[in-house]
Amino acid sequence: MAAFGKKTVRDLEVSEGQRVLVRVDFNVPLDDGRVADDARIRAALPTIEELRRRGAALVLCSHLGRPTGRDPKLSLAPVTDRLGELIGASVRQAPAVVGPEVRSAVDELRPGEVLVLENTRFEPGETRNDPDLSRALAELGEAYVNDAFGAAHRAHASTAGVAEHLRPAVAGLLLEREVVTLRGVVEDPQRPLVVVLGGAKVSDKIALIDRFLEIADTILIGGAMCFSFFRAQGRPTGDSLVEEEGVELARRALERSERGGARLLLPLDLVLGDRFSADAQRRELDGVDVPDGWMGLDVGPRTVEAYAREIAGAGTVFWNGPMGAFEMEPFAHGTRGLAEAVAAAPGTTVVGGGDSAAALARFGLAERVTHLSTGGGASLELLEGKELPGVEVLDDA
Ligand code: 3PG
Repeated sequence: MAAFGKKTVRDLEVSEGQRVLVRVDFNVPLDDGRVADDARIRAALPTIEELRRRGAALVLCSHLGRPTGRDPKLSLAPVTDRLGELIGASVRQAPAVVGPEVRSAVDELRPGEVLVLENTRFEPGETRNDPDLSRALAELGEAYVNDAFGAAHRAHASTAGVAEHLRPAVAGLLLEREVVTLRGVVEDPQRPLVVVLGGAKVSDKIALIDRFLEIADTILIGGAMCFSFFRAQGRPTGDSLVEEEGVELARRALERSERGGARLLLPLDLVLGDRFSADAQRRELDGVDVPDGWMGLDVGPRTVEAYAREIAGAGTVFWNGPMGAFEMEPFAHGTRGLAEAVAAAPGTTVVGGGDSAAALARFGLAERVTHLSTGGGASLELLEGKELPGVEVLDDA
């Protein structure tokens, strides 16, 4: 198991009624003022419940969306309501992030009670990592816990700056689990390590492709980014979405694979549409040379079968990015087949957040993988080998 190297809530001594400031990642999708997917809230429950059980008075903070200033549509209130339902206790919503009213609400907290601050990005100092905001946040607690893995790649006031002014500063259980599991994939994987990468752009994933060309045994490519690879091989791509900038990157990745890096496999067949639409005319292509007037919108059944075989034989599987336009049912088969293969795999299966998490949830397979990361950008940066500011600031173990 990869070493974590930081103190966690398990190391924290909590006295009855002690105020603990906890940074969580409650950046969840909302639909008509309600939480549309509460996975990130549920993922924070072990830390929240553990601290409540020990008598802490919890002050939770999170960002939600990317507001510039105060925006009532991005209030954390719906999230606070959902948290209350999940823990079966009333959870209070603060009217702001910091300030006198927040101070009084914090002072009224009794052991086991929870207060949620308003969206940290309502404060312009949050993303600037402003020391005044960091200090004001620090004054709301007697200890700091960071459990916001999804935001740990951001050096913001609530994820990093606050820890300069508040000790002890320790990791929550989710943050620890995410870092240890994801580091385990790159540092100490059960072999063979099979990595499945999909999504639209090679440029978004190139740092990850480069790292896994060195570490992994096999890389399986899907999603629209495969067309940059096909273009690099001189194949016709028809009207498919091709990221031009990605073609040169793809060519170099193919070369590195041939020079002794990981095996890099590309789709064997495709599902085409005559346009990017759920009611497009659909056609299966036994091959990958896309004719003009058609675009590749999914991988075909032979590809799914070949990729599933690799996945079934893997000691560790890491998957990030859909195989096609899975949000449109006619082009969801490849991603569904891949998700089913990952869910059925006997090895350790780790899925990076974002679209792959949404795909697993849609196919009802979210519970069937070893670890489903709550982080999108954070999980990619960690796997690329970057240090995460929200982890670095915490007390060393
Ligand atoms: C995420 O959803 O990936 C995190 O919550 C980070 O959000 P951000 O990209 O707006 O910083």
